[in-house]
Amino acid sequence: MSLVAVRGVTKTFASTSEAVTPIADLDFTVEQGEFVCLMGPSGSGKTTLLHLLAGIDRPTRGSVHVAGEDVAALSPSALARWRTRAIGYVFQTYNLIPVLTAYENVEVPLLLLRLSRAQRAQKVATALAAVALTDRAHHLPRQLSGGQQQRVAIARAIVADRPFVLADEPTGNLDRQAATATMELLRRLVAEFGKTLIMVTHDPLAAQAADRVVHLDKGRIVDGASHA
Ligand SMILES: Nc1ncnc2c1ncn2[C@@H]1O[C@H](COP(=O)(O)OP(=O)(O)OP(=O)(O)O)[C@@H](O)[C@H]1O
Ligand SMILES: [Mg+2]
Repeated sequence: MSLVAVRGVTKTFASTSEAVTPIADLDFTVEQGEFVCLMGPSGSGKTTLLHLLAGIDRPTRGSVHVAGEDVAALSPSALARWRTRAIGYVFQTYNLIPVLTAYENVEVPLLLLRLSRAQRAQKVATALAAVALTDRAHHLPRQLSGGQQQRVAIARAIVADRPFVLADEPTGNLDRQAATATMELLRRLVAEFGKTLIMVTHDPLAAQAADRVVHLDKGRIVDGASHA
């Protein structure tokens, strides 16, 4: 069975004066251990699709199964537990907690697990080192550059070693060197650590690292909906 199975999914936002349907009757599968890159113009529904996969939003129609769970059917508390166990998420807008240092932001997902303070410290140190931010551990987000904040968000997504990583333009704010290092890190998550990765990117170079590129346009997949 596929790790991700999206069947006939439509997402409509009706809250605004005019209803918006960023995802329209979408079918999409991802296999365990795949590195899938999601591309498409701004507004084509990429972030909306990641939100549906992580259970941040619910589909208006259709079903979203991830690792055997019917994501849309989980209660809010079950969803929170499942996400803690299963998903590392790099948000497009980082979503760092402004009053916590880089170290403390990265530590947050570990607070939900049964770990000693020393075990947490070791994992946070490893994750910060992986994004080359050891020397910024005790800075607040507002004391970091945009690219550094993005790397903190990546460290937070990988620190708890969860099997499924969703990354929304994780290199969008990085210079070429940092972007290359980040892509190498993400590629190793899949190749060496067996993670499954879905990454949104506008960067054709970043997309070259993926096993498969899925092209979205106006909420529909125009290419690459499933593994060949
Ligand atoms: N909560 C919401 N309420 C109303 N409309 C929304 C909401 N979230 C997203 N949309 C709309 O859905 C469409 C798709 O948005 P989405 O964020 O998925 O695009 P995207 O492909 O990630 O674009 P970008 O490359 O700019 O990040 C847009 O037209 C957006 O305005
Ligand atoms: Mg987006």
